[in-house]
Amino acid sequence: MTKKAFITGITGQDGSYLTELLLAQGYEVHGAVRRTSTLERSRLAHLYADPAVYNQRLFLHYADLDDPTTLRRVLIKIGPRELYHLAGQSHVGLSFEIPETTCEFTAMGTLRLLEILRDLPEPPRFFHATSSEIFGKPEQSPQTEHTPMAPINPYGCAKAFATQLVRVYRASYGLFAVNGILYNHESPRRGENFVTRKICRAAATIKAGRQDKLKLGDISAQRDWGHARDYVRGMWLALQHPTSDDYIFATGKLHSVQDVLEQAFAAVDMDWRDHVETDPGLMRPAEPLQLVGDASKARSVLRWTPQATFAELIREMTLSELQSQ
Ligand code: GDD
Repeated sequence: MTKKAFITGITGQDGSYLTELLLAQGYEVHGAVRRTSTLERSRLAHLYADPAVYNQRLFLHYADLDDPTTLRRVLIKIGPRELYHLAGQSHVGLSFEIPETTCEFTAMGTLRLLEILRDLPEPPRFFHATSSEIFGKPEQSPQTEHTPMAPINPYGCAKAFATQLVRVYRASYGLFAVNGILYNHESPRRGENFVTRKICRAAATIKAGRQDKLKLGDISAQRDWGHARDYVRGMWLALQHPTSDDYIFATGKLHSVQDVLEQAFAAVDMDWRDHVETDPGLMRPAEPLQLVGDASKARSVLRWTPQATFAELIREMTLSELQSQ
């Protein structure tokens, strides 16, 4: 029988890579889309355009986390074997501007989904895409699945709430529910307001002579950056394991925003120092410290290892931007 998977957030970066992976594995893929999401669907455009895929093996349904009844109906009708929950307001900086929307969607939306699963006669295996932001200012570095949560922004608080509830529902109702604690993961499909894409895009646009300056916030900030394609493989592996658990997905290597600048501008033979300006308006009220993950558990239990290096990632992103100039 064909395996069916359901994805919330299918139009996002991770949703599009995960859809490709699942289709390649022979799955029938279903995704929830909001009625307003026409433009965001561009990451799936190549799949819509394929008549052998769209409405044959890939199906989109109008459903939303703030409308649980519709979502419940869709899930009952499809009966997926796996559910990947990727949707949410994912911009940390923006979560300071719209904390209530962030918590409503990311925290309460996940709880609503767990409540629906709890009532289904045969609940699907559930993957929750959570974030290193749950650690905020962590007590230890690198972090493991046992590092206490200490979020320092509304987004991290919403993710911490949802992460803990996934644990509670797993323990209390026996749901097959996984928290994937994902560190930053990027690609040419990354949203334009995240720092890697912003930099790679600017490097290409400046090279093409259509922009001169790039405004950034804190360029000394450090993150553990990997490739999104590697991280969606981790999601899938986590749901194939016989039991459910929490896993860190990370490269274990820290780089600064300045390292991104150096790699991206080097890829187009330019010096970033000639073009970058600091904008205090882009500084965040609080920055996490030393967010770097120890993925040994995913490596030993799931046989997951990230393939792309930081340098390869930034180069791929910058060259992709050059092509679209
Ligand atoms: N976005 C942005 N724009 N970030 C900037 C800028 C800028 O102009 N200048 C400096 N930064 C710094 C931010 O302050 C932050 O320290 C770092 O660059 C990375 O910012 P983002 O790319 O926006 O990602 P993030 O780390 O805040 O959040 C991402 O990763 C999380 C996992 O750790 C998002 O994908 C989250 O959804 C995800 O959970």
